[in-house]
Amino acid sequence: MELNSLNELFIRTFGPGLTRIFVAPARVNLIGEHTDHQGGYVLPCALQMRSACVVRERSDNLLRIAASDLPGIVEADLSDLSGYARIPWGAYQIGVAHIMQQRGYRVTGMDMLFDETVPHGSGLSSSAAIEVATAYAIAVLSSESAGTAIDIPELALIAQSAENDYVGMNCGIMDQFASAMGKKDHAIFLRCDDLDYRYVPVDFGAQRLTLMICNTRKPRSLIESAYNARRAECDRAFQAVKERAGISHLAEMTPESFEVHRSLIDDPVALRRARHVIYENDRTIRACKFLEKGDFVSFGVLMNDSHDSLRDDFEVTGPELDAMVSAARAQTGVLGARMTGAGFGGCAIALVYDTDCDAFVENVSRVYLEQTGYQAEFYRARISDGVREVTLAK
Ligand code: GLA
Repeated sequence: MELNSLNELFIRTFGPGLTRIFVAPARVNLIGEHTDHQGGYVLPCALQMRSACVVRERSDNLLRIAASDLPGIVEADLSDLSGYARIPWGAYQIGVAHIMQQRGYRVTGMDMLFDETVPHGSGLSSSAAIEVATAYAIAVLSSESAGTAIDIPELALIAQSAENDYVGMNCGIMDQFASAMGKKDHAIFLRCDDLDYRYVPVDFGAQRLTLMICNTRKPRSLIESAYNARRAECDRAFQAVKERAGISHLAEMTPESFEVHRSLIDDPVALRRARHVIYENDRTIRACKFLEKGDFVSFGVLMNDSHDSLRDDFEVTGPELDAMVSAARAQTGVLGARMTGAGFGGCAIALVYDTDCDAFVENVSRVYLEQTGYQAEFYRARISDGVREVTLAK
């Protein structure tokens, strides 16, 4: 929904008066998949798609939350936010408020209206966008009354904690960090064990390339348990090698050291998971260098290798993502294609020459529909800034 209309909807829902509007973007990960939870490198970008949150403080102790696409208002009492994790919707927002209370932020009563332009279930992290928009809104209001500065990386950690400790999805930090810290036309090269990062210019346009996001539209189910299972398998591999390899997290291992120590991992599944994490981490470091040099051809080769490793070793692609990626790679003018995000459905990305984009969409759409029965959707990525407050055009 356009922001002026959203503000009007807020006033119809909660009554007239001044409002503030905060937006947080979705993300796409260029490469470095399933490395964040093992302390490795990732290379995500914030997208033009976003979650928006219109807010007004209340004088009582209630958090009242509405959404542009859902009926009703969720109401939570600030004096005890611990019991809302299993409600049908609103748990991300309440979880963030709960964690912020625990960390000493001043959380006041608020009316909040949310709106997403991120397709639901697409794996582009609408949940992180909602969490980060909520955290930023609360932090701005809290810091204005207390006169303190806002620490944006800390808001990413709060959003991750809401997801891990409140909602129960054991995700890494990538999505929340990208939504909080994104920068227009840049990717973030982030080391997830200590959050050291640098911005990397991404100028696909200079070589007339488009980053095409290809949504499989496959409904994702049981993703939380499959995701948490992958993490446990990685942990088994880590426990087996950590002492002999002298590492404090799995992604610290180089491919060379993995080949030396791999015989310590008895479990063949854990071995494959570890191989993915360690080689993907190495690919991410190399991919970042290629991006910095503007060598998109070599970057595309690594995109392909990344997908193959997620398919064969990490086993998170599935028939739909595999069909999408092989249809994409078969087209003229494609430098590389891979799944992005957690997997099990969701989106793939492809790097495509501008002049070939129309034919790409037509052909991939047709082949993918024939093979899977799903009607794909395509979006041309625009890389945007991270969380921010916006004012309405008069
Ligand atoms: C999901 C998680 C992230 C990351 C990706 C896979 O998006 O939220 O933390 O693990 O999957 O790279």
